[in-house]
Amino acid sequence: MRGFGAWLGASVAMAALLTASVAAAEIPRLEKHGTSARLVVDGKPMLILGGELGNSSASSRAYMARHWPRLKAMNLNTVLAPVSWELIEPKEGVYDFSSVDDLLADARAQDMKLVLLWFGAWKNSMSTYVPAWVKRDQTRFPRVRARDGSTVEILSAFSDNTRAADAKAYAALLAHLKKVDGERNTVLMVQVENEIGMLPSAREHGAAADAAYAGQLPPALIQKLKAGGEAIEPELRDLWKRNGSKDKGTWAAVFGADEAGQEVFTAWSYARYTEAVTAAGKAAYPLPMYVNAALNRTGKKPGEYPSGGPLPHLLDVWKAGAPSLDLLSPDIYFPNFNDLAARFVRPDNALFVPEANNASAPETPANAFYAFGKLDALGFSPFAIESVNAEEHKAIADAYDVLRQLTPALLNAQGKGAMAGFKPRVLEDGTVQDAPVSQVMGDYRFEVGFIDPWTPKASQKPATHGGLIIQTGPEEYLIAGRGIVVTFACAGKGPPLAGVDKAEEGVFDAQGRWVPGRLLNGDQTHQGRHIRLSPDQFQIQRVKFYRYR
Ligand code: DGJ
Repeated sequence: MRGFGAWLGASVAMAALLTASVAAAEIPRLEKHGTSARLVVDGKPMLILGGELGNSSASSRAYMARHWPRLKAMNLNTVLAPVSWELIEPKEGVYDFSSVDDLLADARAQDMKLVLLWFGAWKNSMSTYVPAWVKRDQTRFPRVRARDGSTVEILSAFSDNTRAADAKAYAALLAHLKKVDGERNTVLMVQVENEIGMLPSAREHGAAADAAYAGQLPPALIQKLKAGGEAIEPELRDLWKRNGSKDKGTWAAVFGADEAGQEVFTAWSYARYTEAVTAAGKAAYPLPMYVNAALNRTGKKPGEYPSGGPLPHLLDVWKAGAPSLDLLSPDIYFPNFNDLAARFVRPDNALFVPEANNASAPETPANAFYAFGKLDALGFSPFAIESVNAEEHKAIADAYDVLRQLTPALLNAQGKGAMAGFKPRVLEDGTVQDAPVSQVMGDYRFEVGFIDPWTPKASQKPATHGGLIIQTGPEEYLIAGRGIVVTFACAGKGPPLAGVDKAEEGVFDAQGRWVPGRLLNGDQTHQGRHIRLSPDQFQIQRVKFYRYR
């Protein structure tokens, strides 16, 4: 299998090739690191502290001009920006990359990186970003038919013409990036299409789609199910079992004729189409590539939500159908961030959240700490980043400032079990479970609470509280975030009581050296009883614990 599995092989081969000098122009790549993976750029690992632009912003350089300095001031290191098919290929075979070149120039002027979003055949299921010469030619580029035979403004995934034209334009974009950015690595990754998914039915209808649906299940998918065993996502495993665990047959025979079974067919069809586009892009310039998922609300049926996207219950279908993709990524707008993000952390998939709710959502900055600290994310990016007000701007700027300072420690700890992230679990209906969470790290057991003891409870919003702990030595820890209170006890052998040897607030300077601020004892640690990060400010404390009798 390619994708994540290929990283390991690729990184071993790469390690053999790379000796003393690492070329600055080495293409960005994903590399296995412990149980996780990280993004390596110019030979160095990095975390994407990102933000995604609203859909239309990057189409006007003038509009963006006033926003770039604000994005920089928010401590972003990467901007996620759309590149649309209609702008780069307004006439068939005639390319205009000026919108891309403007983005590159403006990002570089701020010393920032880009992740480009290919708005090709599909953007939020629909086909609104395709050029007019595609949109207007329904014979050559057929539309989806819904169950009742009506057409939808969605291009069919079963058209060779559409797939070839989309793949050709995407490959042209990647070839252009290689030419203008191959030595600079401003562009880190590319998203293939945007929130793919079928509406308003679970599967596409019409002659080509119906014929494919009546055909036999592809051996690659059967093999995936058989070889995956218990590692297959439970919903898909159950669906297959419920229908007799067959190792051949039609889609309806193997997965059932209802919407759930049809959705598997849709996922496979979209994955195969996306594989063709991705492979064409990689042949031109093999940057890391991913797809993003519009998640489904519990209780809704496929077709009521975009059916067949890279959703948690369909990850295995996408992995089998689109092996050239490096990552399957969630767009998380529902409140249950912890649970949803965790579904995308698998041995063959690292977490990158291209749309981590709207940037204006008050819990977004704390979710970043959870994503990096608990789930080893390689990147995090709230949506509509340029549209925040002053208060929201400050919250993101402060959170990213702390995460930027912690980046070397985070990169070191990710995938090694030397770090933990904390955030109250929030359910899909918005219920906040703010009970303390406990975690053993080294010789200490920490209990992390989300209710600040010195602030009236009614004025607190625990869903906006969160943080992380990184173990940096046998008794030393970095504790960062906001609105968390950490108590501690002993774990394992040794003297039975735990205390604070030394707690200090501080910052890491540009060279990564710790610059201590106040030494915290007395009231700040409740006379040695806890470590407290107040709810109103993201910060770092460096703490040394000790044990006594
Ligand atoms: C998810 C999409 O991927 C974005 O392009 C944008 O449409 C947002 N939804 C709006 O909430």
